[in-house]
Amino acid sequence: MIVGAQWGDEGKGKIVDLLAEHSDLVCRYNGGPNAGHTIVADGETYKLKHIPSGILQGKECVIGAGCVVDPQVLIEELDDLESRGISTERLRLSGNAHLVMSWHREIDGASERRLGKLQIGTTRRGIGPTYADKAYRLGIRVQDLLDRKILRQKIEVALAEKNVWLERVYGEEPVELEGLVERHEEYAERLRPMIADTSLLVDRALRDGKRVLFDGAHGTLLDLDHGTYPFVTSSPTVAGGAAVGTGIGPTRIDSVIGIAKAYVTRVGEGPFPSEIQGADQERLRELGGEFGTVTGRERRCGWLDLVALRYAVRLNGMTSLALTKLDVLSAFAELPVCVRYRLRDGSETEEFPAHQSDFHHCEPVYETLPGWSEPIHELTDVSELPVAARRYVDLIEERLEVPVCLIGTGRERERVLAPGGLETLA
Ligand code: IMP
Repeated sequence: MIVGAQWGDEGKGKIVDLLAEHSDLVCRYNGGPNAGHTIVADGETYKLKHIPSGILQGKECVIGAGCVVDPQVLIEELDDLESRGISTERLRLSGNAHLVMSWHREIDGASERRLGKLQIGTTRRGIGPTYADKAYRLGIRVQDLLDRKILRQKIEVALAEKNVWLERVYGEEPVELEGLVERHEEYAERLRPMIADTSLLVDRALRDGKRVLFDGAHGTLLDLDHGTYPFVTSSPTVAGGAAVGTGIGPTRIDSVIGIAKAYVTRVGEGPFPSEIQGADQERLRELGGEFGTVTGRERRCGWLDLVALRYAVRLNGMTSLALTKLDVLSAFAELPVCVRYRLRDGSETEEFPAHQSDFHHCEPVYETLPGWSEPIHELTDVSELPVAARRYVDLIEERLEVPVCLIGTGRERERVLAPGGLETLA
């Protein structure tokens, strides 16, 4: 199981892509087109939103029940992959996943505009409204596409409510039924062959002794229950969500690899204690190419935060940590690492504050490590790391009591150091 240990964009796509090589099945269990995985393989750049990156390796891939699927975006992804010679035949889509409808995108945008300064900074892809309708039991599911009558009926019922909101609350145009039904009938034709009972499929794979890799979208601190609410996404992003979102028991997951950047980034609003003040913010953003895959927005950049990472180790039951983009730090003479938070009453803590106000107002306490100037992207063995880089990694292992199993040293698939070997991980 692969899980983002920060606020998303940790470079999970690349790690999943690497580990997929040693897996039989790759499974997404949460989120939708708000997630963006960028993978560079054989000189080609792929940007995936719904489809697990295992597809690039020809692996069987699953989009589980806990996901929300924008059919138009998914079809564009399928077309793009097919046009570049990547087969999508082995993709399976849960009939229980929910569909992002046009009104969800509209309400997401309108509600953010209405919140003004208090906005969450969502990706405006309709994610929150889709999950809200799922909980409200007004959602349209993938399996509804399989039956024309049911599809029309469900869209009609949902629209009766949604158009009132769109027109009266948000002052938007209502959505027209016929065009929408027609469009979804077309989507249905395209997606029908891949709709399957994915819970059964994953269970069978596990029973047959196959290796299943779970590909968690977003990051721990964006988790709906345990993240920095309300500046979170609307699905479970922690490792436990994989069992729920796939439809298997929690006892089936035997290893959890957390992915963390060697520094921290965040898109959207919300508190961020180790956010860099001053010129290094811009420098790190440029060096790390920190612009959103989905929205192109600038990512906010910060120094590594071990308090937040310790929280992620706990929430995910992390068995090891993959540290990505260590090469980006090569340009800095000194590297502050946040080791504690100082709270308003002057006390200091290594544990993530349970109360939102403590988190909003805490100050980072840094230990500053020496940087290294040698480029590290060409290294092939962890023993070749500059002493200062090794020290940086050692500090993380010591303080979090979790082994670092992978170190990312560049964008390409092969730019990674695996102290224990890649095969042992998947
Ligand atoms: P939503 O998921 O579009 O509702 O956005 C809610 C919050 O989660 C916003 O702060 C987004 O920027 C953030 N977010 C959602 N998905 C991702 C992701 O994949 N990477 C980073 N941030 C994300």
